[in-house]
Amino acid sequence: MSAPGHVVVTGAAGFIGSHLVDRLLAAGQAVVGIDSFTDYYDPALKEANLEGALAHPGFRLVRADLLSLLNGPSEVREALAGADVVYHLAAQAGVRSSWGRSFRVYTDDNVLATQIVLETCADLQVPRVVCASSSSVYGDVTEMPLREDGPCRPVSPYGVTKLACEHLCRLYAAGRGLHTVALRFFTVFGPRQRPDMAFNLFMQALHRGEPITVYGGGGQTRDFTYVDDIVAGILAAPAAPAGSVVNLGGGHRVSLLQALDALAEVTGTRPSIVHAEAQPGDARDTWASLETARELLGYAPATSLQEGLAAEWEWVLSTLRAC
Ligand SMILES: NC(=O)c1ccc[n+]([C@@H]2O[C@H](COP(=O)([O-])OP(=O)(O)OC[C@H]3O[C@@H](n4cnc5c(N)ncnc54)[C@H](O)[C@@H]3O)[C@@H](O)[C@H]2O)c1
Repeated sequence: MSAPGHVVVTGAAGFIGSHLVDRLLAAGQAVVGIDSFTDYYDPALKEANLEGALAHPGFRLVRADLLSLLNGPSEVREALAGADVVYHLAAQAGVRSSWGRSFRVYTDDNVLATQIVLETCADLQVPRVVCASSSSVYGDVTEMPLREDGPCRPVSPYGVTKLACEHLCRLYAAGRGLHTVALRFFTVFGPRQRPDMAFNLFMQALHRGEPITVYGGGGQTRDFTYVDDIVAGILAAPAAPAGSVVNLGGGHRVSLLQALDALAEVTGTRPSIVHAEAQPGDARDTWASLETARELLGYAPATSLQEGLAAEWEWVLSTLRAC
């Protein structure tokens, strides 16, 4: 059984989930983490993400698939029972790999898993559920900055599943009285970044002295968000009204080529660049309006791109030294 007054983090072993767990534990919160350690990327990296948490007396890990909730009583249901807040971050991430046959994994781990988490939380009367959504729901919308009350036209199957999850959050708030909040994260970076994400790939290539592959001309823009800022937004989210959808961006938007300049400054190495065809599923531009986040959550991202890149570079170097 879980201690009363605990919170639950799904996707606890992942990039963002493990940072959230660490911050909650540091604040004295009892935390139950749930993760099935999927093999989308090396599960050993996820074990490393949780090293600190596993040594903490306030942390308990449930190694299980959220979809086990579909089969009735389970360790996962037991963990959700009595939780003050459920932070639902578990998902199949990645835009490009969501095409083709692998879409099945996205419908299972995003849509179906979110529905059964919300259903179970409604049954158990969990007071607050915060769900991770994504800037990918906006897709090819060109009116900038991107506002929560504006259109959503995803350009990837992944974005479609995240938009479906948001609709489920809204439905469970309206129809089942569950207090849900959906957060649209904008390209998160920092230590423990997933190995399929651009900065991590770029840093690994720089370290090996290999060229960096840039898809498209490099003029595409992103609102990069440092992971500590995202975690601050997640922690503030339970205070938002039921059914809210809130952008969490970094507060600065740069082109990919500008980001590479910043990376060269931080690492002291100018990358050689190989251009490749733009990839289907990649949005051209992202830039978050932070008005709602400021108003509802008092959200104010504080980390510059350079500071965040320096922290991620330090982490990449330390992991390579440890190998
Ligand atoms: N990283 C970003 O820039 C970004 C941007 C937008 C949205 N998001 C969202 O934020 C959340 C966290 O992303 P991340 O980058 O930390 O990804 P991640 O892949 O590092 O973490 C996700 C974790 O969920 C776990 N998981 C997946 N399916 C599961 C299931 N059925 N049962 C139990 N565990 C399961 C995986 O094992 C993994 O550890 C995701 O919902 C993602 O869609 C991330």
